[in-house]
Amino acid sequence: MAECRDRTTGNCTREREDHLPVQCVGEWAKEKHDFIRRYIEATGGPRKKYASKGSGGLCYVDLFAGPGRAYIAKTNEFIDGTPLIAAAAPLQPYSTLVLCDLVDENIEALRVRLARPGGAGAHFVPGDCNAMIDVIASHIPKHALSLAVVDPFGASALDFATLRRLAQFARMDLIVHFPTMGIKRNFAKPDYDKTIDRFMGTDTWRTDVREPDQVVRLIPHMKRQLVALGYAKDDEVREIEVRNDQRGVLYHLFFASKSPLGNKIWKSITKTSATGQREMF
Ligand SMILES: C[S@@+](CC[C@H](N)C(=O)[O-])C[C@H]1O[C@@H](n2cnc3c(N)ncnc32)[C@H](O)[C@@H]1O
Repeated sequence: MAECRDRTTGNCTREREDHLPVQCVGEWAKEKHDFIRRYIEATGGPRKKYASKGSGGLCYVDLFAGPGRAYIAKTNEFIDGTPLIAAAAPLQPYSTLVLCDLVDENIEALRVRLARPGGAGAHFVPGDCNAMIDVIASHIPKHALSLAVVDPFGASALDFATLRRLAQFARMDLIVHFPTMGIKRNFAKPDYDKTIDRFMGTDTWRTDVREPDQVVRLIPHMKRQLVALGYAKDDEVREIEVRNDQRGVLYHLFFASKSPLGNKIWKSITKTSATGQREMF
């Protein structure tokens, strides 16, 4: 990745946009954004029906929200980040946005970038999402149809207990970035096994995964963990694999929904890659 990336915040040290910070990302981020965007777009119809019933509202939660815009050095491109993608949801906008980030300048950038007249009610939660999860949960309407995007830089940033708390909401779809390559890179570091335990919410993986090249074997363990939270008892928690140009596995994206319609929509939008040209399965 470009040398213009601040090692602590992940923001770009060279470029800003409208004087606001942008995250420094590789081209691969577009693929992740595209899946999230397509899911948000494809669920516009169901959101509309749900909203018109006058029920609990429509909520978007972003635990690792970032500053809202990102910069790809290689292609010199500025792109929307996940909170702005959600804020532009077509057909039926979210009525509530709950956005958390550890870095104050990112929260301040989100306040500015999302300050649109008539926009959704937005709650900004500065701080560590694991420590702030009860505050985050307090902003989510109890009966809302919700989507949470969970997009940490690495395994050390997420405690599985945080997902467990979100899963207590009856209608909470989850999209979770599983940093496969990052875990592989750090696997041999002292005490990293404890980081994985916390991220996975279990140590059952330890007998299966003993060296960095076996890290993809964590995937079925994560899947079982999500199923145990009440997601898709019929084993419809799904994950897709995203590879880099050299065909190495960069990350997995997990999707979990308690709704058969949510599962059907995710299945349909992930049949093709982000460019829409390649059959993934
Ligand atoms: C991969 S970026 C998120 C990018 C965003 N989802 C997007 O695609 O536009 C991760 C973000 O998480 C933030 N972060 C890191 N640790 C965190 C924590 N424990 N709680 C909340 N945010 C955290 C970082 O400041 C960074 O902005």
